[in-house]
Amino acid sequence: MIEDIEQVLYTEQQIAERVSVLGKRIHTDYLGKKLLLIGTLKGAFLFMADLARAINLPMEIDFISASSYGNGTTSQGLIHIRKDLDHSPKGYHALIVEDIVDSGRTLSYLTENLRSQHVASVEVCTFLDKPSGRAVSFEPKYAGFTIPGGFVVGYGMDYAEKYRNLPFVGLLKRKIYEK
Ligand code: PRP
Repeated sequence: MIEDIEQVLYTEQQIAERVSVLGKRIHTDYLGKKLLLIGTLKGAFLFMADLARAINLPMEIDFISASSYGNGTTSQGLIHIRKDLDHSPKGYHALIVEDIVDSGRTLSYLTENLRSQHVASVEVCTFLDKPSGRAVSFEPKYAGFTIPGGFVVGYGMDYAEKYRNLPFVGLLKRKIYEK
């Protein structure tokens, strides 16, 4: 897998340090609140596991799966829910934990969807934010790192379902996704 990576953007160590900072901020902001952490499958599975352990608060955990990209590298614009929450989020302070905000479509859709279910609040904590990819306006409350263009993989993120288990984040070589 490593031979397909152009450049390592964030090492395991850098990721751990950043996740710890985010965990402390979220701890301060959600103290005393009924917190529901919602992980988006599949890309956020590693970030969710690390972030949940970095937030020293009582919380409930659920997962949702929404599709946007298919197997390619460009967003298709249509969002649909593949797997919904197991329980109603009504009354909870929902915090969506996402791997990357790119076009913004997935998170715009998910936050509106949660608001319509009468949550006490809904915010987004994304590991990566890629503002250059926005098709709709969306600003996550918490972001690990802001990245420029290029196709990133690792730490949960895939290309055609591969590379999710890389412990770092890397830029994929163009020849891999342009062939
Ligand atoms: C990715 C990512 C976000 C979404 C962001 O999911 O996990 O959910 O795309 O893109 P957007 O801002 O353009 O909407 P993907 O559909 O690739 O599924 P995955 O998490 O299972 O890899």
